[in-house]
Amino acid sequence: MIACDPHRFINDLDETIVARLITRLESRAQDKVFTHLLDNYLTRLALPRSVQVLEIGCGTGAVLRHMARREDFSGKAVGVDQCQPFITSAQRFAHDENLDEYIEFRLGDVHKLEFSDASFDAVIAHTVLSHVTDPEAVLREMARVVRPGGRVVIFDGDYASLTYAYHDFDLGREMDRALATATFNNPYLMRNLPRLLPLLGLALSSAWGDAVTEIGTASYFKSFAETYAPFVTKAGLLPAATVEVWLERQRQSMQNGSFFAACNYYTYLATRSD
Ligand SMILES: C[S@@+](CC[C@H](N)C(=O)[O-])C[C@H]1O[C@@H](n2cnc3c(N)ncnc32)[C@H](O)[C@@H]1O
Repeated sequence: MIACDPHRFINDLDETIVARLITRLESRAQDKVFTHLLDNYLTRLALPRSVQVLEIGCGTGAVLRHMARREDFSGKAVGVDQCQPFITSAQRFAHDENLDEYIEFRLGDVHKLEFSDASFDAVIAHTVLSHVTDPEAVLREMARVVRPGGRVVIFDGDYASLTYAYHDFDLGREMDRALATATFNNPYLMRNLPRLLPLLGLALSSAWGDAVTEIGTASYFKSFAETYAPFVTKAGLLPAATVEVWLERQRQSMQNGSFFAACNYYTYLATRSD
């Protein structure tokens, strides 16, 4: 079995796949599921207007653009990602929306951030820690670059709860598990944060969960299935024919209104203690 989280190994993928992932990140960002969950934590954070924010693993910059468009934001944001085509797209999208005076994007590895200690008021990881090589090392970097009293936000899925309805329940569960394994290096990390955060000097301020469900029709989970099911075969987890039949059945259920899929997402807000 080969683990092949595409976002972890993005720099090993060919440009067609990278372009497909850029499309997926941008279409996901337009989905009301995404904007609702993002607005929820940005509102609860209530950051000062002139805040200095870092987003680690910023991808195409969708989170920071959304934040910069909000009326309560007039600060500065920096996004870091390991993938040059993502950074180039992020710069172009921000420029197209006249947001480049608020947001800067830089190439970098989030395990070794090139910022001094205590450089930011807030540091955000939005669906990133599930993909990185060493989540504890990345959390340590987040804790280092946020100022004492500053805020750390971790938003991600608990992919043990990722499920698509399938007529063959056992095979469906196998496919759910294979999707989580092929797509995420750390699919169950969110359960470990209550234990990990205090060890890194981050005091948990609040945490909550959201069940994302699509029943009858699909948008968020349609794009997820179309993008990531091929990686199940690529990772050698299930035969190509099995995955293709599963995908075709999902498409049919989207067309005839019998679709069902769900996953739990969690948000942790923490404060640097010292
Ligand atoms: C699912 S995407 C999320 C992008 C963005 N946060 C969003 O929500 O639209 C995960 C991102 O993490 C980045 N990433 C993974 N490991 C990384 C690392 N070691 N250093 C920098 N970026 C990394 C990937 O390149 C990818 O852009």
